[in-house]
Amino acid sequence: MQQAIDQYTAEINAFSPASADELETFRIKFLGTKGIIKDLFEQFKTVGPEEKRTFGKVLNQFKQLAEAKYLELQEKFKSEIENPKSEIDLTLPGDGFQTGSRHPLSLVRNEIIDIFKRLGFVVAEGPEIEDDWHNFSALNFPEEHPARDMQDTFFIKKNNGKDDIALRTHTSSVQVRMMENGKPPFRAIMPGRVYRNEAISARAHCFFHQVEGLYVDENVSFADLKQTLYHFVQELYGEGTKVRFRPSYFPFTEPSAEMDVSCTICKGAGCNMCKYSGWVEILGCGMVDPNVLENCGIDSTKYTGFAFGMGIERIANLKYVIRDLRLFSENDVRFLNQFQSEII
Ligand code: DAH
Repeated sequence: MQQAIDQYTAEINAFSPASADELETFRIKFLGTKGIIKDLFEQFKTVGPEEKRTFGKVLNQFKQLAEAKYLELQEKFKSEIENPKSEIDLTLPGDGFQTGSRHPLSLVRNEIIDIFKRLGFVVAEGPEIEDDWHNFSALNFPEEHPARDMQDTFFIKKNNGKDDIALRTHTSSVQVRMMENGKPPFRAIMPGRVYRNEAISARAHCFFHQVEGLYVDENVSFADLKQTLYHFVQELYGEGTKVRFRPSYFPFTEPSAEMDVSCTICKGAGCNMCKYSGWVEILGCGMVDPNVLENCGIDSTKYTGFAFGMGIERIANLKYVIRDLRLFSENDVRFLNQFQSEII
């Protein structure tokens, strides 16, 4: 036992650690709960009574030596123990993180808003849950119009036995709210989500997005409508894009038209996007029907206006050649990541 203690004493005296880690190894080896000192005290229990006196002293001195050495060195490595050296290699390149990307429908909506803002239009919004008045009646829909049917519209509540509250089927309802709550002139675009009771397929969805436009003032004419939309298309699809207006019918406009643009994919040469006609329809429009103005408390003998409505999905289809409407709402990152470079 004496021999072992002499050997350990020499080891302790010579111990000169280079790091706090080495000191910790030292502590475990000598002072730990399964360490050498503990072990020597265990052995000490078995020595004869006459040896106990001498060894007891030697052992205690040895223990004090180890503890003193430890405390002394602990002081030396104090800062290293309290602030362990970080394992991070600052010379390595960073991990980087993935930025998100705007949804293609947001990109298109923002672009439409930007173009009309430059023409002096403001942006307005309305509720997605609408009553019959704002979605249909004020907009001059006759009582028996098919859009009022459950087949086409998600009605959610009856009033006095009649279907009344519904998910709006178009953003034209926002026109009504705007005109009811203000005074002409109005010059606004109204983007938003709309709902229709359709089976989901590549070509139809139960919800989609529209941008409505409204311009009401004294002396607004069909020529203003054509010029505004012509300018819009030049900005959206580039100079030289052709437009044509075809007569159409909407209850809330008179006269009404649909506007086609020369096919943005084949530039009019004919492709399967335009069904080889060279033209694609992008919106409905017309002069606000005087009945609608009157329904909203606006003097139709003094004011006239034009309105238009377009589907954002349709514009995005033509811009990015996306043929399946479902892609817009599935949120598959392999689809969404393709719009990474277009953050605006
Ligand atoms: N509300 C029509 C729809 O959902 C689109 C529309 C057509 C809006 C003509 C208008 C308009 O403002 O003048 O199909």
